[in-house]
Amino acid sequence: MYRSRPGGSIDREILNYLSSLKDDFAVLFYDIIGSEAHMIMLHEIGYLSREELAEILKALEEAKLHPEPVMKKNENEDVHESIESFVVEKIGMDKGGMLQTARSRNDQVMTDLKMKVRDDINEVCVLLGDMIESLLKRADSNKDSIMVLYTHLQHAQIGTFSHYLLSYTESLFRDLERLEDSYSRINQSPLGSLAIGGSIFSVDRNRTASLLGFDQLSTNSIDATSSRDVILEYLSCLSILMITLSRIAEDLILWTTNEFEYIELADSASSTSSAMPQKKNPDPLEILRSKSGVILGNLTASMAILKGLPSGYSRDLQEIKSLVFASTITTENSIRILRFVIDSCIVHKSRMLEVATKSFANAVDVAELLTSKESLDFRSAHKLVGSLVKLALSSGKSTLKDLEGNQIEQLLQASEYQISVETLREIIAASSTEKSLTLRKSKGSPNHSEQVEMILHNQRRLQNFRERTEKRKKAVENAYDDLSKIVRSYSFSSGS
Ligand code: ARG
Repeated sequence: MYRSRPGGSIDREILNYLSSLKDDFAVLFYDIIGSEAHMIMLHEIGYLSREELAEILKALEEAKLHPEPVMKKNENEDVHESIESFVVEKIGMDKGGMLQTARSRNDQVMTDLKMKVRDDINEVCVLLGDMIESLLKRADSNKDSIMVLYTHLQHAQIGTFSHYLLSYTESLFRDLERLEDSYSRINQSPLGSLAIGGSIFSVDRNRTASLLGFDQLSTNSIDATSSRDVILEYLSCLSILMITLSRIAEDLILWTTNEFEYIELADSASSTSSAMPQKKNPDPLEILRSKSGVILGNLTASMAILKGLPSGYSRDLQEIKSLVFASTITTENSIRILRFVIDSCIVHKSRMLEVATKSFANAVDVAELLTSKESLDFRSAHKLVGSLVKLALSSGKSTLKDLEGNQIEQLLQASEYQISVETLREIIAASSTEKSLTLRKSKGSPNHSEQVEMILHNQRRLQNFRERTEKRKKAVENAYDDLSKIVRSYSFSSGS
């Protein structure tokens, strides 16, 4: 269809190699409504008669309702060519041949991509909101589920399971913020930039932008047609988000092991082994962990595609599309899967408490109490508690409170600490597993009132995010509704 200078037809193998038709199905809808908006604008500024417009819109509407014949046009390079040739077949070259007036596939493809990614961002935000809601629910019912917090994967401090869950709501809120922020840069219309340098037609770019629900123009025609940094930004958002999900998955995988036994996946979320009948494997979480690597790979591949390109559109840019579409689908599925796992898993609170109780994770609380109550400088307190832990371990005790009075006495005698055995034992008792949490005063720590506060705060935040997402979705939906009313008004008024 596009062959004006080159004679004959393109070699079949070459065509298959460069065709993006299969990937383009994801943007078919956007391409059609983009064409409708462009045609309406051309009519409004006097370059297309009402009758021509009506015929073109009818053909485009048919392609929208019945895309199969369009997508089967495998003699074409992409969806843009397929739609154009479909329209030409339907209404003839004199009218259908106007479809590509004052635009090019270069501004078209970026317009399609931006409309698609705009919807995808909103959808990912909806799913993330649901995920955060699940985390908040589980946090609320685990405010008092005591567990050890780990650094370097070693027992660190006493915490709660809710505190852990809430930590990831914070990351996910930042993921939401990043996506929201990138939305404003995605939502700028490239349409009407033509191939790279604009048109001699006085196209009203603001009109097409508003018909398609874009907030602004991507003004410079070179930038509008050939930059893809906003797409890289979107892929970066997904990669960072997937890394967060992967880290949650990794924790849960670890905690389902016999060694931890903190968590048990629901049967419906577990797979098993073909050989070992006892197995209950966390495969969905392992797949999620690996998918995050795939998304990261898609980002890296897209960056590598872009980095050496000269200014202006090059066909290389086409290859980014499938990476973006696949990344969205994988991310959306991963959020859903992880949410299912979190909603349905069994939390073994007693096991978490048992491990916490038989740990030295209250050691820093003991040291802090020595500093705050006994005016011992923190470094000396740290050393004293460190030697108590060493003593307990060498005498087979699993907690500080199991140390005998005479053991402590000997240790104190061999040092120059001005502290009595009784005081030391009282301080150890005052910072037992449960009590240590009530001692924590700092903002954001795992004591009960901080948990309650964080949950409430995050519930309010979530509601605000959801309202903003709904508002963005509504704005796009309204634009599409208005556009389709205009399309109907033209196609019906032509008398058919
Ligand atoms: N199918 C291409 C893409 O998806 C658009 C075609 C632009 N082609 C061109 N030769 N200028 O990026």
